[in-house]
Amino acid sequence: MRHFFSVNQLKEDEIIRVLHQAEQLRLQQQSFTKQLFAANLFFEPSTRTKMSFIVAERKLGMDVLDFHADYSSTQKGESLYDTAKTFEAIGANLLVIRHQADYWMNELKNQLSIPIINAGAGKAEHPTQCMLDLLTIYQEFQQFHGIKVVIAGDILHSRVANSNAHTLRRLGAEVYFAAADGCKDNNLDFPYLSIDEAVECCDVLMLLRIQHERHREIFINNKDYLRKYGLTKERERKMHPKAIILHPAPINRGVEIDTELVECERSRIFKQMNNGVYTRMAIIKKLLQERGIIHETIAEKRK
Ligand code: CP
Repeated sequence: MRHFFSVNQLKEDEIIRVLHQAEQLRLQQQSFTKQLFAANLFFEPSTRTKMSFIVAERKLGMDVLDFHADYSSTQKGESLYDTAKTFEAIGANLLVIRHQADYWMNELKNQLSIPIINAGAGKAEHPTQCMLDLLTIYQEFQQFHGIKVVIAGDILHSRVANSNAHTLRRLGAEVYFAAADGCKDNNLDFPYLSIDEAVECCDVLMLLRIQHERHREIFINNKDYLRKYGLTKERERKMHPKAIILHPAPINRGVEIDTELVECERSRIFKQMNNGVYTRMAIIKKLLQERGIIHETIAEKRK
């Protein structure tokens, strides 16, 4: 694997191997021995993804080249391509990129010799979020086959829905959507349930934020949204005792989820964030090993 732009690049057995690697990394401390630089180029706001990449890189012993789009030469008109080439030229060994364009990777993938990780591409894909969501589900159920996952919320504007729905189906999960009319995506071929049907049948309820910044017009009243489409306390009581709640966050508290449910017993929302560190470590390690930038240890080769 040269870069990590999409979960589709990983075969099913590779996904499971990455999840196992992430679990191992969570349980033990490991770091690279030679000096390696990682540059995190975020052109859209981020708290979790950016910070967990920084923690992942530092835990692996990498030096982190920090970058702030607002104070960079992109403000003078420099392109993404020239910015990425600059980091390669000054010695970055890895680029992590979040950008508002859906297919920003197309102009970079054959032009750079260093690996690139997609940390969010417009409305198209968020593969490392998908991998950490998979790890969270796997920790709970130890499999994906037959697990009923409902992805509920702003499907139309969500890169998380896109990455997760296809990958979960590929791994054998039953995937459904639940959404208000303006949030449905007719290009994605998954059955829709009402939120009331969803809470009663799901093993995993993956809530999504209403992405106000990507809506052309405001058609959602926050209070109405919770009552009509969100996870209220009344709906949560109808969930199966072992069903769990996921949300990639940031959360619109009181909109897609009642604020008291964010940290309820069945919520794994902060666990997802913790898992993000280890899945990102595992992806970084896999890329650097496959590029020969670092080498597998003898113990890893035996597995
Ligand atoms: N889930 C997620 O991508 O969060 P951030 O936008 O804070 O990185």
